[in-house]
Amino acid sequence: MNEFRRLGEKYGVTKFMDNKYPGQTFEFIYEDVFAPFKNDKLKILEIGIQEGGSLKVWRDYFPNAQIVGIDIDKNYIYQEERIDTYLIDQSDIIAMEELLKKYKYFDIVIDDGGHYSKQQIITLNLLLPYTKYIYCVEDLDTSYPEIFPDFSPANEESIVMVLKHIVDWAVLDKTDIEKIDFRKRFCAIYKKKLETG
Ligand SMILES: C[S@@+](CC[C@H](N)C(=O)[O-])C[C@H]1O[C@@H](n2cnc3c(N)ncnc32)[C@H](O)[C@@H]1O
Repeated sequence: MNEFRRLGEKYGVTKFMDNKYPGQTFEFIYEDVFAPFKNDKLKILEIGIQEGGSLKVWRDYFPNAQIVGIDIDKNYIYQEERIDTYLIDQSDIIAMEELLKKYKYFDIVIDDGGHYSKQQIITLNLLLPYTKYIYCVEDLDTSYPEIFPDFSPANEESIVMVLKHIVDWAVLDKTDIEKIDFRKRFCAIYKKKLETG
């Protein structure tokens, strides 16, 4: 069985349970994206904790990783082996900069927080320069005002529009991006392996 599906079922994380939400989940994508990094010593940040199961999935999947989670809901803050969580709003730049001061950089970032384009853009702008390997954004269907007008109003730039600009810069080799992997409702930006901290 797919390892993310197995761990998703163990910890009740629906984004890894294709049996529950056929075609809407990410367990096969994450297997592709994360398998080459599985045994690396990593610092992983996930934005959006909720019940906390996904942080435990990352912790169990990556045996040598330190997992960091942030959320705006104090009920989701907890501490476990190799997991630290913080009460931080992803669009609070000052609080996010404090987090960066503490951790210096992250090897992997997963944005599964508020899903408003405005928030996703602020977070991407702030954290992409401090991401060593992979920056992931989930649930990109919220970029489409015809489906989610509250998350991405038609007169504002969406996170998918910003990602398309990044494609242009990457193609012209104007950034430290190695490749960009677009999937259904998902994108992973791979950085060149620059030392950031
Ligand atoms: C879809 S849940 C994701 C939970 C978890 N990552 C998972 O896979 O099960 C989204 C979480 O993001 C949190 N959230 C919403 N807005 C946020 C914000 N502005 N900053 C940080 N977290 C936020 C919510 O409280 C919620 O726990």
